[in-house]
Amino acid sequence: MSDKSNKQEQSIRVENLVKQFGKGESLVEVIKGASFTIYKGELVALIAPSGAGKTTLLMMIGCVLEPTSGQIYIGEEKVYDNRWLTQNTRSIRREKIGFIFQAHYLIPFLNVIENITLLPQTNGISKEDSEASARKILNYFDIEEKAYAMPSELSGGQNQRVAIARALANKPDIILADEPTAALDMDRSINVVKMLKQIAAEQNVAVIMVTHDERMLKYCDRVMKVENKKVVFQEFEKEGG
Ligand SMILES: Nc1ncnc2c1ncn2[C@@H]1O[C@H](COP(=O)(O)OP(=O)(O)OP(=O)(O)O)[C@@H](O)[C@H]1O
Ligand SMILES: [Mg+2]
Repeated sequence: MSDKSNKQEQSIRVENLVKQFGKGESLVEVIKGASFTIYKGELVALIAPSGAGKTTLLMMIGCVLEPTSGQIYIGEEKVYDNRWLTQNTRSIRREKIGFIFQAHYLIPFLNVIENITLLPQTNGISKEDSEASARKILNYFDIEEKAYAMPSELSGGQNQRVAIARALANKPDIILADEPTAALDMDRSINVVKMLKQIAAEQNVAVIMVTHDERMLKYCDRVMKVENKKVVFQEFEKEGG
């Protein structure tokens, strides 16, 4: 819903963001002055043709890729103003952002629960506490019985749910998902998107999800698009009107 605006708390704000790759003859400008705000609790789809800059945008918001210029706020904190304002973008990523990638990147030689608890334990949470909360999340995703399975023993859909569970384990403020449903069939895709929607609403997390599948849009709160190297929000038909 776009009209509960004054109650909404900003989760991500981007002003005049520019990203160029290369220089001189080979300079490519991918994003040219993007400005937008994403609020806590919303699931936002990000769509655009291949090569339009969706992953580039996600990686800048995720403090993985340095922009060329502009401003980025994570929550109320300004983290980028023509340069990173912190020495340590890694700690922002670790503390505030959960990533879900298409290729899920579960660590193949760690079992499910080890994959999920790795980052929380790196951040100083005890083994007992991180495992207890991992179990809760696995239970929520209906895969508790897979806690000790290896990634290779899971189906594509189960793998994807573990990847989402892992992104959640660190209690991020923001979840950035790059085509999380690309490898899944229609039913499982809808499931994953509904799950992300529920997480956004229940945990007051902002979720940005890249998708090429128009059928997923109706489950999202807003749809944004990279168009003419800028970001625009698009009208769309939402489920249930
Ligand atoms: N490290 C890089 N060096 C040079 N150009 C790059 C780099 N990363 C991305 N690009 C270029 O930036 C543009 C946007 O790429 P990006 O990966 O963001 O597209 P995308 O919208 O995610 O596409 P897809 O839907 O295929 O994943 C492309 O033209 C790509 O070639
Ligand atoms: Mg991409």
